Amino acid sequence: MDTAKLVLNIEGKEQSLDLPVITGSEKEKALDIGSLRAKTGLVALDPAFGNTASTLSAITFLDGEQGILRYRGIPIEELGAHSNFVEVAYLLINGQLPTKSQLESYRYNLTRHSMIHEDMKRFFDGYPSTAHPMAILSSMVCSLSAYYPDALDAMNTEMFDITATRILSKVRTISAYAYKKSIGQPFVYPQNHLSYCANILNMMFSVPAEPYHIDEEWVKILNLLLILHADHEQNCSTSTVRTVGSAHTNLFASISAGVCALWGPLHGGANQEVLEMLEKIRVSGDSVQKYVELAKDKNSTFRLMGFGHRVYKNFDPRATLIKGACDKLLSKKGVKDPLLDIARRLEEAALKDSYFVERKLYPNVDFYSGIIYRAMGIPTDMFTVLFALGRLPGWIAQWKEMNADKSTRIVRPRQIYTGETERHYVPMDKRG
Ligand code: CMC
Repeated sequence: MDTAKLVLNIEGKEQSLDLPVITGSEKEKALDIGSLRAKTGLVALDPAFGNTASTLSAITFLDGEQGILRYRGIPIEELGAHSNFVEVAYLLINGQLPTKSQLESYRYNLTRHSMIHEDMKRFFDGYPSTAHPMAILSSMVCSLSAYYPDALDAMNTEMFDITATRILSKVRTISAYAYKKSIGQPFVYPQNHLSYCANILNMMFSVPAEPYHIDEEWVKILNLLLILHADHEQNCSTSTVRTVGSAHTNLFASISAGVCALWGPLHGGANQEVLEMLEKIRVSGDSVQKYVELAKDKNSTFRLMGFGHRVYKNFDPRATLIKGACDKLLSKKGVKDPLLDIARRLEEAALKDSYFVERKLYPNVDFYSGIIYRAMGIPTDMFTVLFALGRLPGWIAQWKEMNADKSTRIVRPRQIYTGETERHYVPMDKRG
């Protein structure tokens, strides 16, 4: 194993350490500081983990400088062009592309497990129609665990496949029901003859009163969007799933925690925020430049939503693919959306501006996805739900990888305490 010599000079005391250097399969290097505290009494402080690799992982490779994203070694461009979401889910979770018969039985299982327990349908009654579907989704995913007590033992690997299948399949149904609840329409059961993505559209948009035509173009684009969201290595929600799972928490509860993390506007919630921002610009009639200036103003809390990324310091390859698909599809369908024009002008203005150029802030995955969802008739507050649906295979694969790794320990970071030093309790009558 390679080692690196680290020479520390703290308060005049010199100490040299040999620390292991870990090299990834794409030659990226990390200094293993696991023994730092034992050898020196120091801990590493890295708020927001900007410089910390929390795990070794063989699932997704991301090079933010070059704009590369690969699942199990396969570029997302190839998966987007030739694969479908079910196959990508199999790839991420099992490590290899499925054979024909493996894919058939995977599809079969996803189809057979799509219904939720009838009692769970009544849970929806308790929510106001204005409930955000992410609130419903997170609690429903956790509630699924109540129906499958055998899956509560996270270390029972025999239950993994069936639990993962149930989650992948039922979360679609829950998501569609959350939407139907919000518009007061009857729930539509999943249909076994439909594909994974066609079923989502059918459950969301069909009504018992008339037949619903499933547009294959939308099915194709939904597949693409879900593929592009399927994994993104150690992002906020995935790290949450791993953190929660590291306590041997069951898969349902770990994924539910991931859904909550994803909801935040700096993470998956950004797709909803982007559309709301574009709509605000449209209604105000203001120039896009005004919003670029506002995003630069350090006295304002406004940020250009859908811009910037912790790891991409170049174009987000997912955004490039989504923008291309958006342009192609909307022109083919003859959809004229003023928000698309605003988005294009906003992107152009920001990419010319030195503030964005110097900070390497480019459009991310959320910048154009909402325009496509909108064209499909999906309401804004369902955007993050679709992100969650897409991210399920990644969360599941990461949870599985973590639990299979014998070196996994419960996640428990340290801190540097900055509060009061020891002082004593003062009785109420002695307080000033
Ligand atoms: N608008 C204006 N300024 C920005 C933006 C933005 N969207 N993003 C970053 N900055 C500035 C930030 O103010 C800081 O400036 P300075 O150096 O002067 O203090 C600098 O760029 C670095 O930003 P940061 O906040 O330190 O970067 P981060 O890595 O902590 O945050 C981010 C990444 C995605 C949270 C952030 O870029 C952001 O808030 N973007 C808008 C929300 C968004 O689109 N989120 C979706 C991310 S992609 C989907 C996903 O994976 O969830």
